[in-house]
Amino acid sequence: MIKPDGVQRGLIGDILKRFEQKGFQLLAAKLMTPSREHMEKHYADLAGKGFFKGMIDYMMTGPVFCMVWAGDGAVVTGRKMLGATKPSESEPGTIRGDFCIQIGRNICHGSDSVENAEKEIELWFPEGVCSWTSHSQGWIY
Ligand code: TYD
Repeated sequence: MIKPDGVQRGLIGDILKRFEQKGFQLLAAKLMTPSREHMEKHYADLAGKGFFKGMIDYMMTGPVFCMVWAGDGAVVTGRKMLGATKPSESEPGTIRGDFCIQIGRNICHGSDSVENAEKEIELWFPEGVCSWTSHSQGWIY
């Protein structure tokens, strides 16, 4: 997910391009403004944290861009491409390493396990995602 600061800074294209060029397959994408309740559900595992309210306030400052990417190691590699949660620890070349300096404005979210990805897909894409055969997959990737 590209968070509101990423959307407002015009980074959708750049971030999407990184995942496309890496070789992952796009199964769904949409710009949306979720309810506060929806966002709290997404981050339910962090509800006890001191930064929770401020983080939800930030996530409600504008639309977010949600995507579903598939491919070998999509979760592990996708998290590497995002970079560490704290921008001071995210390596240059990663999305957070290249574009942000504050943990509370860290541009993007990525599922941290396949199990959580499945739950998040259900939450964000109740309408389902596309299923398609990428013709390049058999011979390029
Ligand atoms: P977390 O799930 O720990 O990290 P990640 O997004 O890398 O999976 O935290 C969720 C978001 O909460 C994180 O992207 C930014 C915010 N956050 C803070 O604002 N302050 C903090 O101290 C932490 C740990 C996270």
